[in-house]
Parts: sequence; structure tokens; C-alpha cells
Amino acid sequence: MPDLKPARILAIETSCDETACAILENGRTLLSSTVASQMDIHARYGGVFPEVASRQHVLSIIPVVEQTLTQSKLTLKDIDAVAVTRGPGLAGSLVVGMNMAKGIALGMDLPIIGVNHLEGHIYSSWVYNAGQDAPAEPQFPLMALLVSGGHTELNLMTDHLTYTRLGSTLDDAAGEAFDKVARLLGLPYPGGPSVQRAAETGDPKRFKFPRAKLENPYDFSFSGLKTAVLYEVNDLKKKFTTLPVEDLAASFQAAVVDVLFHKTIQAARHHNAKEILVAGGVSANRALREAFQSQAEFRVHIPAFSLCTDNAAMIAAAGYYRYALGHVSDMGMDVQPTWPLS
Ligand code: KG4
Ligand code: ZN
Repeated sequence: MPDLKPARILAIETSCDETACAILENGRTLLSSTVASQMDIHARYGGVFPEVASRQHVLSIIPVVEQTLTQSKLTLKDIDAVAVTRGPGLAGSLVVGMNMAKGIALGMDLPIIGVNHLEGHIYSSWVYNAGQDAPAEPQFPLMALLVSGGHTELNLMTDHLTYTRLGSTLDDAAGEAFDKVARLLGLPYPGGPSVQRAAETGDPKRFKFPRAKLENPYDFSFSGLKTAVLYEVNDLKKKFTTLPVEDLAASFQAAVVDVLFHKTIQAARHHNAKEILVAGGVSANRALREAFQSQAEFRVHIPAFSLCTDNAAMIAAAGYYRYALGHVSDMGMDVQPTWPLS
């Protein structure tokens, strides 16, 4: 790997329901980051309402970029390149960030880099706050488990920006399963954190929920698990007036964590990975983090809590490596709402 040129990247992320901007130096050092969450607005609908998300991005994007610059004590003249999430995500949300990024790049005559949101999640493990000691950089070959609201997949990363997808979910993403089960249990949106909270005082062994056996051992399936929870809930409702929400949440979470953990370890062994990386919103889950942290076979990289869910620091990190390795985008690029990582 040649020495990479230093650069300060300003990144914008608007793929779903967070309006975010960040400034990052040399792919790792975070100078400033702002995330304006729309969570309270969408909680009313029990999920993200795309039209509302897009309008909210329009209202937030300029203040979010301004606040990020102010916080960093820098101006646009100090920026070397602009990175922006190009997809996957909601089309009406992505275009707001894309247009803002193009406006800055055109106005300041800067290169622009379109970043895959999933690649961004993976690169969140490269990021640390300015003033802190740099944590060890992930080493290749790396087994990357990506677990978010829209995606669940295992990728072997043999170098920067180089992915081989070994398997992915055949139905629901892990985060989506958390969100749906939360709804079944009457827990508030967003489902992941509320299932985790309920699970803390529950018995993970009370209900034996299924772990799907699939032809490709690195694929995932969570719809059978979700249906098993639904049947159990319906059954319990016939017999009791209140549901054992904590035990149901803990048993469901244990089934998800068990599958994610074992498949990743198995894939890492089979492909001789040096290290493991876990990324995406579900990597904020405490039980999942503990499962990976309690084994000693592989060094595991899991982002800081603030970088697990959507943010622009991770887009800046992926954008830096794209920029430094010569993958600059064309100003005519459009958003790609269904863009696969590999
Ligand atoms: O990566 P992310 O912020 O957005 C997408 O790119 O999809 O992931 C959001 C997902 C949601 O499904 C949310 O319920 C889940 O991550 N999530 C969690 C936790 N925090 C967020 N799932 C389990 N446990 C958590 N603590
Ligand atoms: Zn995400």
C-alpha cells in the first residue's frame, strides 16, 4: 500500500432519517460531526415516512453543514474534497445531500466522491476523535459483518475498497427484525434500542426461538424467527393478560446475536481472515458487542456507539480512501437508491 496523500474531507449523509455532516482528516481523525436526527418526527408513524424525511433534510441540511464548519473552526477553503452518500437509501432523501455536496464542490472547485452507505458503515471503524489516541487500524484480510436496518451481509475485505460478498439476508435485515419484533411486543420505535432495553431484565433462555439453517452457511434469514415470535405472542395472549415482554425480547435478541456471531466466526476461520469488523446500526447492540468482545481468537473492530448508527464521519472515512486511491466521481453522478456494495 503506497503512502496516501493527506486530505481533509467534508462529508454529507442523508440516506435515511439523519441529516449529517462531518469533517475528517486523513481518513481517521474526526474534527467535527453533526447528526440531526428526525427520530421524534418518524416515531409518530412507527417508522420512517420517506416524504417527511426528504422535506426535513431540506430544512436541516444548511444549518447542519454550517454547524459542522463552525465547530471545526474551519472554512470551506480548508477542505480538499467533498464526499457524499450516493446510495443505497431513500431517493428523496439522498438527492438533498447530493445536491448540497455538488453545490459546495462546484462553488469551491473541489473534487466530489460518491460513497456507498454500506462502505461508509464499514469505514466507521477507522474513525477516532481528534485529541484521542488512534486505535489500531483494521488489518486485511478482514471479515466484515454489516448489520443495519436495511442490510445484513458478510463481506471478505482483502484490501481497501475491495469486497467479496459471502452471504446476505434472504429476507429481513437484522435491524428490520428488531424493529418488527419491537412492534409485536408493543415497544416504541426505533425497535433495536427498545428491544435491547427490555431484554436487559429478561431471560434469554425462556423461549427457544429458531436459528435458520440455510444452504449457504453465510446467508441469513430472520423472517422465520419473527414469525415464531408472533406465534408465541398470540399463544401467550390467549392464556395471560400481560405478555412477558422482557423474556420475549431477551430470547429473540439471543437468537439474532447467536446467528450473527457464529456465522461471522465461521466465515473468518474458513477464509483465514486476520480480524473481524462489525458495522451498521445493530452493532450498537450491547449483547452483540459482548459476544464478539468475549472471544479471543480474532481482534474485533466495532465502532464507538456514536458511529454505529448513521453519521457522516463514516462517509468521510470511506470518501478519503476513495479520494486518496484515485476514485473521484463525476459531477454528473446521480443518486443510486439500490446500490449494492459488491
Ligand atoms: O445503520 P442504521 O442507522 O441505518 C441503516 O443504514 O439502516 O441502522 C438502523 C437500524 C435500525 O433497524 C435499528 O433498530 C437498529 O439499527 N439498531 C439496533 C440498536 N440500535 C440501532 N438494533 C439492535 N440493538 C441496538 N442497540
Ligand atoms: Zn446506515
